[in-house]
Amino acid sequence: MSRIVYVNGAYLPEQDAKVSIFDRGFLFSDAVYEVTAVLNGKLLENEGHLSRLMRSCAELQLRLPVTATELENIQNELIALNQLREGALYLQLTRGCSGDREFDYPPAYVTPTLVLFTQSRPVINSVKAQTGISVVSVEDIRWGRRDIKTVGLLAPCMAKEYAHSQGADDAFLVEDGMVTEGSACNAWIVTCAGVLVTRPLSNRILHGITRKSLLLLAKNHGIPFEERAFSLEEVYSASEAFISSATSFIWPVVNIDGKPVGEGVPGPVTQALRKIYIDMALQATA
Ligand code: PDD
Repeated sequence: MSRIVYVNGAYLPEQDAKVSIFDRGFLFSDAVYEVTAVLNGKLLENEGHLSRLMRSCAELQLRLPVTATELENIQNELIALNQLREGALYLQLTRGCSGDREFDYPPAYVTPTLVLFTQSRPVINSVKAQTGISVVSVEDIRWGRRDIKTVGLLAPCMAKEYAHSQGADDAFLVEDGMVTEGSACNAWIVTCAGVLVTRPLSNRILHGITRKSLLLLAKNHGIPFEERAFSLEEVYSASEAFISSATSFIWPVVNIDGKPVGEGVPGPVTQALRKIYIDMALQATA
């Protein structure tokens, strides 16, 4: 069934939605985005995603052409039009189109391009949450402002493609021997002492909304955690590893570079934290 998507004020069948070839999102990746989970037909953690969108816009002097309330109305209207119960809502804002290819930012009167579409897929009962995923390590070749959620995603696409060529599901990106994050997710380990470890916030990683909630939930449930960089060797010797994102929530990492992580099956801390997160998510969207 064809989706209804949103483009610059219009709700259209996806095949009728058009953006100019001169759009700066297309020519320069001059655009930011957000992916928000949808459960029970409701947006999950949308406040966090919208405030990160505002931050990305501010860092790039990118103008949002609608108010936050208008944006939320558009999001909810699109979910309703597509009768989306579970999946994700994708939102992209570009610096628009000034009618030619010019590096300079266009004048302020040029309207930014706002596009939204839905993606229907199981989030709670995803297969990978049960089986876990395998990852391979690859060098992190991305730019220096990974805290800004831009659509310049060729490096993660290359990492994922390499992972698939090696028979793995995803990649852990490594810089100076330390894991930064996954191709489109935050990376975590559980040490043999049962401590959760994830990298602290900086320009080197995306400030994950799921990551933030997981740290809060870990705190509330008395699960010990540390925000610090961890090395690839630490993943090799960790008792568990997992990834977090709006699309996966939490997926266990059971194998890295062909070696099992811990017992090579989804670990108890990972599974407990996933359940805690899902309980919170179901309650928030009930
Ligand atoms: N990716 N790190 C990177 C590089 C990401 O692209 C993402 C999200 C995350 C997790 O952030 P959050 O918990 O806010 O989803 C971390 C989205 C899902 C994507 O690009 O599809």
